Amino acid sequence: MCSIIGYSGNGIAAPIIVKGLKRMEYRGYDSVGVATESENQIEVKKGIGKVNEVNSKIQLDSLPGNIGIGHTRWATHGKVTELNAHPHPSNSGKIAIVHNGIIENFEELKKELENEGYNFKSETDSEIIANLIQKNYEITKDVKETIMKTVSKIKGHYAFVAMFENGQLAAARFHEPLIVGVGQENIFLSSDVLGFIEYTDNAIYIKSGNFIILENKEFQILDFEGKKVKHEITKVSKEFGDAYKGDYAHFTLKEIYEQPDVILRAGETTIEEIEKAVEYIKNAKNIYITGSGTSYNSALIAKQILSKYVKIKAEPIISSELQFTPEVIEENSIFIAISQSGESADVLEAVRIAKKLNCKIISIVNLLTSSLTRKGDVILGMNCGPEIGVAATKSFTAQLIVLYKIVQKLSENITINFEEFSESISKMIENPKKIQKIAKELKNVSDIYILGRGINYPIAIESALKLKELTYIHAEGIPGGELKHGPLALMDTDVFVIIINPNDSTYTDTLTSAREIKARGAKIIGVSDIESDVYDYWIEIPKINEILYPISEIIPIQLLAYYSAIEKDTDPDYPRNLAKSVTVK
Ligand code: F6R
Repeated sequence: MCSIIGYSGNGIAAPIIVKGLKRMEYRGYDSVGVATESENQIEVKKGIGKVNEVNSKIQLDSLPGNIGIGHTRWATHGKVTELNAHPHPSNSGKIAIVHNGIIENFEELKKELENEGYNFKSETDSEIIANLIQKNYEITKDVKETIMKTVSKIKGHYAFVAMFENGQLAAARFHEPLIVGVGQENIFLSSDVLGFIEYTDNAIYIKSGNFIILENKEFQILDFEGKKVKHEITKVSKEFGDAYKGDYAHFTLKEIYEQPDVILRAGETTIEEIEKAVEYIKNAKNIYITGSGTSYNSALIAKQILSKYVKIKAEPIISSELQFTPEVIEENSIFIAISQSGESADVLEAVRIAKKLNCKIISIVNLLTSSLTRKGDVILGMNCGPEIGVAATKSFTAQLIVLYKIVQKLSENITINFEEFSESISKMIENPKKIQKIAKELKNVSDIYILGRGINYPIAIESALKLKELTYIHAEGIPGGELKHGPLALMDTDVFVIIINPNDSTYTDTLTSAREIKARGAKIIGVSDIESDVYDYWIEIPKINEILYPISEIIPIQLLAYYSAIEKDTDPDYPRNLAKSVTVK
């Protein structure tokens, strides 16, 4: 996944584009580039690394002109090299493009263009768009006709912005996001509102299968057949202004510390939708819950709380697996899809399969403008604000709070005091000194195991995921009882083991596992509301309603992963090789 941006306005384009790219860097950060048009000349600068690094080396923001395009890349076709970075100029240098997505038939198109004399400098699928546009523009001499001809040839999922040497911009969307920011002095074409929120809160969400042509500040939106389409200007929520780090060193740290507030507000605006979801769930023959990564770990917890507290059976499904086992789904069921971004290709594919089987879709999603939102019969907003750090933190808590609200509505016997819980979490993370000290110990460790039983097992897996992403240390979640069936062989004096051990029905058995591990010389970090001599380090969690333990367990581990990343000098906001929304399969 990548971010694309186009700008036309009264301001100097390059610094405005660089700022927008910085905000959208969560979408990909292998390399970055900007191209601007000035006096009918296109100039391109690009390099490997993050926006600030590349900008301080080659001053992307010094390019001249009031019109430009920019890109941050998450490599899919071709390695992370300067040549593969966008923008890609066409052979004549009279057109440059930025692209997000995948062109499936690029090899075929590349051969066709090569036979006609075009050269390709990069390994990307994107460069064919630049040359195809050049070819079509040379034939038609018209931007509208050019884009129509171009989109009729390319197959795949994409959004691109093309800049012509006369300063015209055009952008097309097919299943990848494209949003127009309409300011008084500026027009933006962007993958995310974060690309322009500083300048305008007026947004037009371009529909898939439409394109836009922009000359100065005049624009037209058309469908791929060339018919004009009506557009609506939406006011973007001011909450996007939250996407600043403020006094925090990193977005990830800020987002971890926002969780007491998330506990109070998650699902808050969606009471009616929760009631609708509850009706669906009550009357369901079968319920499936899907997600990827962290969102799948929420699905595992959902299964446990639904069965334990309201005796409702639900089957978790890893989204990326469903296409290989669609027969596990019964027709006319309820299908709950959990996704922070609402753009994960695997989740969208799973929903497509479920819809084909006539299932009703309940979407639990943070970005309400996302593709998943449009596919749901019931939409439950996580309402946790923009999550910029690539590793999911506050969105996990928000997903669980939404699920708790569903369970609470389904049962008369459960009362959760969210205010009290939020306060206890604030207190727990008020002073991170102890966690910072443990993080120093983890700096040179090569393996961390995390043990949990019952509802604490999904937290063990989620902890492992956070540690892997943020610290690059090998980490593995293990169901406590499975220790003696194999993993015990791995325990020795070099290993650290985190024991998720709240005072619930799993407590005694898990403490026994901790002793067995300690006897093999491993260091034990206990995450518990009860202290024990078996723990070399004790991370104290509050004594609370046991349904809430998962959240109080994961938050200190998120902090531990964060501070360990700081110790290891990795970038916690942008872990290597990852992207915030994985819009490719
Ligand atoms: C983990 C993480 C990923 C995402 C996964 C699904 O920290 O961020 O595992 O949870 O890519 O993303 P969404 O929820 O946007 O579908």
